[in-house]
Amino acid sequence: MTTPHHTSDFLHDLRRRSAAEGGVFWVDEGLLALFEPHAARQVSGSNWHRLVMHDRLIDMVRRRTSHPVRWTRVRGAWLAQLHRLSTGEHHATMLARMEGAVEERLGEEVDLVRFAQDLTVRSMLPVALSGLTTRESARISQDLNQKLVRLIALDPLRGPWRHLRFTAVQVRAGLIVRRVLRQRSSGRRPRELDLADPIVELLPELGMDRALDVVTAVLTAIAGPPGAAAASVLYELARQPDWNRRLTEELAEVDPERFCESPATVAPVTHRFVKEVLRMWSPPLVLMRQARQTFDLGTTTLVDGQSYLLSPHLIHRDTRYWKQADAFDPDRFLPGAPHGPADKDCYVPFGWAPKNCVGADIATVQLMMVCYLMLKRYRLAVPDIEAVSVAYRFAPVPQEFRGTMSRR
Ligand code: HEM
Repeated sequence: MTTPHHTSDFLHDLRRRSAAEGGVFWVDEGLLALFEPHAARQVSGSNWHRLVMHDRLIDMVRRRTSHPVRWTRVRGAWLAQLHRLSTGEHHATMLARMEGAVEERLGEEVDLVRFAQDLTVRSMLPVALSGLTTRESARISQDLNQKLVRLIALDPLRGPWRHLRFTAVQVRAGLIVRRVLRQRSSGRRPRELDLADPIVELLPELGMDRALDVVTAVLTAIAGPPGAAAASVLYELARQPDWNRRLTEELAEVDPERFCESPATVAPVTHRFVKEVLRMWSPPLVLMRQARQTFDLGTTTLVDGQSYLLSPHLIHRDTRYWKQADAFDPDRFLPGAPHGPADKDCYVPFGWAPKNCVGADIATVQLMMVCYLMLKRYRLAVPDIEAVSVAYRFAPVPQEFRGTMSRR
């Protein structure tokens, strides 16, 4: 996932132009904004149809040829594994890991953006890559954290030493992933129920370099959007006392291990709340993609090789498709609500088929668990929520968002 620019100004400018120019316009030469929901769905659908992983640059340099592997095989393997992980028992261990992260910070004033990140990475890392030693896990987390800090910081990395250090940490994390895959494949490490494991099966076809790319894609996916979304959940819980009360009432009666059964039935109010957080504060804000064929879009043509931008966030805040688009109201997701989505293409927090997020279900449950922990087991005190503003980086990031957690 790539964000070309991170500033609030850039996003405000895109929003203004999208309103004026109908959602499809050239940002600059060679970069088309596709913020019209149906065009975004159609282009995504055709662009990635039959996506195949070919040789990497390194293969060409070393004059070796790898098997082309269809992306749907990788996705299918991930989805099957996530289905196996979707049980009350696995969700209980995910919740316990999150609880551990809260317990460590009780009573201390914490930066809630960084804390939300820690909470989600800790609970999700074993889903992506399990059975690591404490040292391996710390090193992978260090790499994920440094990447996130680079994405949310106001001042990006500067200076050759910091770059060198960044690269060293990244390379070390990559070496760990390679070792895990190699050892699992040779039987020197046990197989695990995680998203890296099906890649061990595909290793003979993918080769180690492409296998590393695939595992890194999952690690990147769990390191960015889930933490940003969890920070936004904490922000709205602090900002919306009425909703805070409604969720507290509902969650008093709910067993969180049942979230995986059918979140919308088990805890409908909490589910709507999470959906609305993902509408208002959808991460990542902008995705940049390259056209793999030429598209005739009626008003303009996107030529093979040109780039285009997608943005769930800008679709979610577009007043052509949402009434009161900037107001936070989970009840808009009640059936027949007048301010609900104009159609299903207008609510896309997890992107577009066939490259949409494979972790959508587990991510929703995870965010509902954040609500459960903060309302049922702990109490979160944020001193002056009205003073907290949201800046747009790779995702919406509440600024100076600090608070203290205590046990209930
Ligand atoms: C609230 C949390 C999350 C949000 C908002 C989110 C959002 C997204 C979005 C917008 C995309 C790009 C879709 C596109 O290109 O059309 C994506 C891709 C992806 N996400 Fe998530 N995601 C979240 C959590 C997760 C989690 C927990 C996992 C893993 C367990 C995950 C795994 C992936 C993967 C593997 C992809 C790449 C799919 C592909 O290339 O085929 N995501 N996600």
